[in-house]
Amino acid sequence: MKALTVVRTVADLRRAIAEHRSTGRTIGMVPTMGALHEGHISLVKGALERGDVPVASIFVNPTQFAPNEDFAAYPRDEDSDFTQLGAAGCRIAYAPGVEEMYPGPQLTTVTVASLTDHLCGPFRPGHFQGVATVVCKLLMMAVPDRGYFGEKDYQQLQVLKRMARDLNMPVQIVGMPTIREPDGLAMSSRNRYLAPAVRKTALALYQQLNAIADAVRDGRTACPPVAERAAQALLKSGFDKVDYLAVVDAESLAPLDKVSGAARVAGAAWLGRTRLIDNIAV
Ligand code: PAF
Repeated sequence: MKALTVVRTVADLRRAIAEHRSTGRTIGMVPTMGALHEGHISLVKGALERGDVPVASIFVNPTQFAPNEDFAAYPRDEDSDFTQLGAAGCRIAYAPGVEEMYPGPQLTTVTVASLTDHLCGPFRPGHFQGVATVVCKLLMMAVPDRGYFGEKDYQQLQVLKRMARDLNMPVQIVGMPTIREPDGLAMSSRNRYLAPAVRKTALALYQQLNAIADAVRDGRTACPPVAERAAQALLKSGFDKVDYLAVVDAESLAPLDKVSGAARVAGAAWLGRTRLIDNIAV
């Protein structure tokens, strides 16, 4: 197996990428916030399958967390991340510090309108601006051929696809399927917060998304009342708060009354202090 090179500066990242490019290879970037699991590794594998040299970034981006969110507590485990990346065939890990990523005040930001008005947008003001800005910076630092992102963060994926298109970035944004635990729970770095006693309850989110999808798939059943009933069921099963459960257009993310084309059922709900999100196609 070929070794993983760890770099921490933009200059070293560009040098390492240039070496691979000089042999005619294409580059596939996998931006992450670390605390890697099989979902992230599937993105590395996606890059390998397309013939790209996988380059992963590990950076817990402070600007996408609100002051009351879990930035300080967000799981960090660089050694395990590097081991997993190396074993998966990733060739470069870019793990900058905050000073390298934000050397001075960041006066320029990237805002993707409309798509961020829905789903998580209203519940996490500023979050998608933080995500779009840091991913824009990462893509400008590495200038990969493709960037790989999981469908687990479906709204993020749509936002980043739109950003790349609107800004004419020479990067193809590739969405990869959500990887789930054997019982169906979507893999997430935040699952580490779940105490064993509530781990079983967490699965109810995926179950209710499926219940909604089954009910509205025929295109005749109105979505909002079905989603409302599912939210009540989620609370009954032990969730503490439901931010939203909604059926939305798969591209615009606008809420749908009835399903008539490609749609997505998405949800965000709290188990104690852990906010879980998930989504499925209809
Ligand atoms: O999905 C994530 O882990 C983050 O939002 C991302 C895309 C790495 C940006 O910080």
